[in-house]
Order: sequence, then structure tokens, then C-alpha cells
Amino acid sequence: MTEIYTDVRFLSAADLDTLGLTMAEITDILEEAFHVKATGDVMMPPKIFFHRHGPRFYSSMVSASPDLGYAGCKWQSGDPDNPGRALPYIQGLYILTEDATGQMRAIMDAEWITGIRTAAASGLVVKYLARSGAATLGILGCGLQGRKHLEAIHAVRPDIERCVCYDLRPDRQQQFIEEMTGKFGHTIDGAANAEEVARASDVLITGGPIMDKRDPVIEPEWIKPGALVVTIDYDSYVTDAAIQSMDLVLTDDQGQIEDARRNEGKFPGVTRIDATVADLVAHGTGRRTSDDQRILAFNLGIALEDLATGIEILRRAEQSGVGTPLPLRSASPQT
Ligand SMILES: NC(=O)c1ccc[n+]([C@@H]2O[C@H](COP(=O)([O-])OP(=O)(O)OC[C@H]3O[C@@H](n4cnc5c(N)ncnc54)[C@H](O)[C@@H]3O)[C@@H](O)[C@H]2O)c1
Repeated sequence: MTEIYTDVRFLSAADLDTLGLTMAEITDILEEAFHVKATGDVMMPPKIFFHRHGPRFYSSMVSASPDLGYAGCKWQSGDPDNPGRALPYIQGLYILTEDATGQMRAIMDAEWITGIRTAAASGLVVKYLARSGAATLGILGCGLQGRKHLEAIHAVRPDIERCVCYDLRPDRQQQFIEEMTGKFGHTIDGAANAEEVARASDVLITGGPIMDKRDPVIEPEWIKPGALVVTIDYDSYVTDAAIQSMDLVLTDDQGQIEDARRNEGKFPGVTRIDATVADLVAHGTGRRTSDDQRILAFNLGIALEDLATGIEILRRAEQSGVGTPLPLRSASPQT
């Protein structure tokens, strides 16, 4: 008998905070989702992404997985000037739909989801690809993602105890150091520029803004032997020469790289992808084979990550009765 839902559950960021979902749990959930991407049934057209003006953007990301039982869509806007207005850079909503019947089940704050799943996805890559003995984490961009990445990388590699960071805005860099030092056991040093961070890093996270016209600065010689670079800002920070100098290049979704290249002119310097994160997780393709290899992962952020996170959120919200029911249907259903 099909269950007919009469309302859709609205979950604000404050609601999501109460569910007790940890970074380590989301990392495990994403690992499972990447397995499903490699071996199961996942539909995920490339995200729609277009600039409003300069670095401001809109994007929409959809996916469906009969194996996971749900489909979902995230609609968001981005504006790097927003922190100056006391607004987050990225704002959005996520709609979760039951796959078997197409019924809308939940509407959730997407900033919360993006915040945690992006860092957890990087954590997953770090878990698989950072070399043993890695000691220093470099963070470029000391905003929301910088903060979440400290937590995510601590969740998978608690032995990495030193962080070096840089933000274009010295006040934000200083605030980051004051707020995050010791929070996950790291000592944190501020750097004078991106080069200082890159040269010191065994694991480097680039999280600057994604501009319509990129102006990358990271040169091949800035990247240490054995380093892992994870970009969450497309190819904004890494030069084409740096990309081509890497021993292994991975991405969370090859189709999305190709789409961004075709439609947005991004990734002109990407001449090969050695593996996807799904291949890595499910089949071990693209795994590090020596401690000297320099590895680059383009984590563009994929809809499946939102879907897997959203499913777990709904499960917990139902269990604990969190959220606000919004009526979906009229009292007398239409025939
Ligand atoms: N791949 C994904 O899945 C994904 C998901 C969310 C965000 N992002 C991207 O990650 C980046 C950071 O997002 P956020 O939510 O942390 O934003 P945020 O606004 O909270 O933080 C960004 C920080 O970067 C700083 N910055 C700007 N230009 C810089 C530069 N050239 N070098 C160093 N710092 C610089 C800003 O001053 C700010 O403090 C953005 O590019 C965003 O589009 C990617």
C-alpha cells in the first residue's frame, strides 16, 4: 500500500544543528554513496551553473538514485561579497523527493548541507590519497569551508596536527587562527601569501572564489613531492602547468568537468583524468602507489553528495520529530 504524505518537512539550519550529524558520519555516508555511483544506479546530469555578474553565481544540482530510494534538487546562489553584508557566500534550499512515488518529502537549508558535505568529500579524498607521514595541512581561503575542512581532515587524519593558512583578507585570516587554533588539535600559522602555504603543505585545500575569468597562481614548483592538492574552487588557484605536472589527477565527476569546460570555459589545462573518486573508492583506481607522487583532486561538489546527506537528515529528523510540517495537499484529493 502506497503511503501518501500530506505534508513536506521543512528543516531550517537550526533544525539541522540539532540532529547531531558528525563530520565523520557524513564522510562514511559519502563513501557509501560513491560506491553506489561506481556500481549502482545513479542519475546525475551536470550541474547548471551560471554567473550573475562577476563572481556571483546561481546553480542548480539534481540527482536521483533508485538504489538510495530518493531524488533531490539543490538551488543556490553565491556571492563572495555576502560576508560583508553579514550573509553567507552560498545560500540555498534542497528539496528531497521519494523516488518510488515522486512525493516531495523535505525542504532543507542547503547552506548547512553544502558546508558539511563539501568538507567531508575532501576528507574522503584525503583518507584515500594523502601520503603516510603527511604532517601539514594548507588552507587557502579562511571562510566557512576552511573551518569545515579543518574538522573534516581531522576526522580522517588526526595525525596531521599543523595547519598553515592564508586569506586574501588579513582580518579573516587572523579570525580563523584565533577561532580554530586547538579546536581540532591543530597549531595554526598564518602565511603571508598562497605560495608560502603551498610550499609547506602535504595536503593543500584551495578554497578561493570561483571567478568567471580565472587567474591561477599555484605553479608546479610550489607543490611538494608527495603532496595531495584538493581543489574545491575548480581550477581557480592551480595553473595549467601545475595541473599538467601532477602524477595523478582525479575528480568527483568527469562529466561535470567536461560540461564546465564546454559551457563555462573552465579546466582548459586538464588534459587527462586518471580516475574518479567513485572509481577510487569502489575499485582502487587512481590510488597512490608511492610517497613521492603529487596528486590533484578536483572536487567540484556533486549532487549525489547532497542527496546522500539529505537522506540521512530526513531519516534522523523523522526519528526525532525535528522540523516543521508544511501542508502539501488539499483536504480532498483531486481524482
Ligand atoms: N566544490 C564544492 O563542492 C564547493 C562547495 C561549497 C563551496 N565551494 C567553493 O569554495 C570556496 C569557498 O567557499 P566558502 O563557503 O568557504 O566561502 P567564504 O566566503 O566563507 O570564504 C571564502 C574566503 O576566501 C577568501 N578569499 C577570497 N579570495 C581569496 C584568495 N585569492 N586567496 C585566499 N583567500 C581568498 C575570502 O576573503 C573568504 O574569507 C568558494 O569558491 C566556493 O564556491 C565549493
